[in-house]
Amino acid sequence: MTEARVKAKVKVGVLISGRGSNMLALIEAAQAGGYPAEISAVISNRPGAAGLQVASDAGVFAMAIDHALFGKDREGHERAMDAVLRDRGVEALALAGFMRVLSPWFVQAWAGRMINIHPSLLPAYPGLNTHARALEAGETEAGCTVHEVTLGVDEGPVLGQARVPVLKGDDADRLAARVLEAEHRLYPAALAEFCARFRQ
Ligand code: GAR
Repeated sequence: MTEARVKAKVKVGVLISGRGSNMLALIEAAQAGGYPAEISAVISNRPGAAGLQVASDAGVFAMAIDHALFGKDREGHERAMDAVLRDRGVEALALAGFMRVLSPWFVQAWAGRMINIHPSLLPAYPGLNTHARALEAGETEAGCTVHEVTLGVDEGPVLGQARVPVLKGDDADRLAARVLEAEHRLYPAALAEFCARFRQ
């Protein structure tokens, strides 16, 4: 008789700063069953982030750790997040619209265990205002990238990309909405692939 081996799900923490639509895509994928990860915690650096309520409504532990309370002590804020994540047993992190640059301390603490989604086809258009810049440059194609987080902002090995066309009459908002739909498909797939590494 062969013994079935059930692999434990990887406990994933999600860091957000805003509405959390990518976070919700990850939560829904993880709750659908047969997914290699469970979302064990959501943390926002902004107390007013709409995504906190979205996560709570989905039954996921969610809390704000306000970076403003730490003043210039970036690492202090990150140590507070790190303590909560470890307390929740989090093994891997997904940044989902987390709009703060992480310190080398935090990046190293989670090295090889942290991914991010960015709304461009990296290495093109790192940083902010990606859609406006892509339109300004006359691009005919846009998209999104999931990558491992390393010390350089929006750098790190690419796990996956999704491409969408730029259409006639697009403005930054219309293009952002089309890219966001692609993000919601790409991120759950990329996180699943990433988590498979942890249970080999
Ligand atoms: C997403 O488009 C994400 O790719 C982007 O912020 C948005 C967050 O939306 N992230 C970055 O620009 C990171 N550099 P969401 O809160 O609805 O997921």
